[in-house]
Amino acid sequence: MTDIWAILGIRIRNCTLKISAYSGKGENSAKKKVTISLPAALRGQFDESEKDQAGLETAMYWKGKKRFVFIKTMCYIIPTDKRYSVMFIKSPQKVGIQIECICREKRNWRKWNLPAELLNGSRLAQRVRSQIRRRLKKLTFTPGLAVVQVGTDPASTLYIKHKQRDCEKVHFHSEVHHLPADISQESLIAHIEALNARVDIHGILVQMPLPVPIEKEAVIDTITPYKDADGLNPVNLGNLLINREGVTPCTPTGIIRLIELSGEKIEGKHAVCIGRSPLVGKPVGLMLLNRNATVTYCHSRTADLKGETRKADILVVAIGRAEFITADMVKPGAVVIDVGINHVNGRAIGDVKFEEVKAVAGFITPVPGGVGPMTRAMLLENTLKLAIGG
Ligand SMILES: NC(=O)c1ccc[n+]([C@@H]2O[C@H](COP(=O)([O-])OP(=O)(O)OC[C@H]3O[C@@H](n4cnc5c(N)ncnc54)[C@H](OP(=O)(O)O)[C@@H]3O)[C@@H](O)[C@H]2O)c1
Repeated sequence: MTDIWAILGIRIRNCTLKISAYSGKGENSAKKKVTISLPAALRGQFDESEKDQAGLETAMYWKGKKRFVFIKTMCYIIPTDKRYSVMFIKSPQKVGIQIECICREKRNWRKWNLPAELLNGSRLAQRVRSQIRRRLKKLTFTPGLAVVQVGTDPASTLYIKHKQRDCEKVHFHSEVHHLPADISQESLIAHIEALNARVDIHGILVQMPLPVPIEKEAVIDTITPYKDADGLNPVNLGNLLINREGVTPCTPTGIIRLIELSGEKIEGKHAVCIGRSPLVGKPVGLMLLNRNATVTYCHSRTADLKGETRKADILVVAIGRAEFITADMVKPGAVVIDVGINHVNGRAIGDVKFEEVKAVAGFITPVPGGVGPMTRAMLLENTLKLAIGG
C-alpha cells in the first residue's frame, strides 16, 4: 500500500487544472492523472459531484468558509477568493505534500507552467510619457534635447525619428544636428562643446555608431555629465559604480523598470546578465547589484553558459544573436528580459526564442515592444532630470 503522492506536473490551461502524480516506488508505484475543470470551481458550483475527464470521481463541498473539491480521496483543491491550494492526501488523513497552487495577486501562476506574463514595454513607456507630461506642467521652461547624427545610416535615421516623435509627445523641444560622415573628430567635438554651452539644450545624445575613424569614447567624454542624456559619460557610469545613481544609461534603466513591472522583488534574487557591453550588460548588472541582487555576468568566453542561465531568477539577454536563448537554458518562472534586436528577413527578432521560452519563464519581454520603447522613454526621463537639475 502506497501512501505518499508526489506531484509530477501541474498544468493549468484554459481554466483546466491537470495534475499528474505518482506514489510508491518500483513495482508498487502508481501514476495518476487528474483533470479538473476550474470554471466550475470559479463559478462556485461546489455542491455537485462530477466525473472529471480521467474518469475520477470528484465531489465539491463547503467546509467552514472554504470550498473544497475532493477528488477520489487523492487530492483537495481548496479555493478561497483568489487562491487555490492543492493538497494530496491519503484518505482520510493528509500526507505531507501541500502546494500553494495559484494566487493571481501574487503573480505566481508561473509555478504551474502557465505561459509567461508579457512585460509590455510599449504600454509602460506610455505611462512614463504621461507622468512626464504631468511633471512638465509645473515647469516654467521647455526641456530641450539635441541629437547629433554623423552620416546617414538608415537605421540611425529611423531611431532618431522615433526619438523626435517621442519628444513631440511630451512637448519637449528637440533638434537633430545632421553632420557629414567625413567630419573630423575635432569638428565633431567642437560641435558638441557648442551644444554644451547652450542654455536651451538640457540633454545631448550622439547617435551611435559613428564613422570608423572617430573615437566613440572621446566623443562621449566631451558631452558634459550635466547634459548626458544617454547616461554613458564616464562620470555618470562612475556614479553608478559607487551606487550613486543619477543619470543612468537608458536601456539598463528601462530594463530595471520592466523587471519592477513584473512585481518580482530584485533583492536577494540571482540575476544573470549575458553581455558585458558598456551600453547594456555592464551597467544593468551594476544596477541590479545596487538593488541587492546577486549578479553573474556571462559573455562569449563563459565556460558553461547554460549552467549559469539555468540558475537565473532574472535573466537579461543582450548578445545580438537571434533566438540564441532556448527554453532549456531558462529556469522555470524566471523573469526574462530580451534586449536583443536582430533584423532577420525584414523583421526584428530578439535574442530569446520567444515562443518556447514563454512556456517556461514567469515573465518575458517581447521584441519588438519590450525593452526598445522603454529605452526611448528613459531618454525622455533623463532629459527631464537634467533639465530640472535632478
Ligand atoms: N532594445 C534596445 O533599446 C537596445 C539597446 C541597446 C542594444 N540593443 C541590442 O542588444 C544587443 C546587444 O547590444 P550590445 O550593444 O550590448 O552589443 P555588444 O556590444 O556587441 O555586446 C554583445 C555582448 O554579448 C556577448 N556575446 C556575444 N556572443 C556571445 C555568446 N555566444 N555567448 C555569450 N555571450 C556572447 C559579448 O561577449 P564578449 O564581451 O565576450 O564579446 C558581448 O559582451 C544587440 O542586439 C543590440 O541591438 C537593444
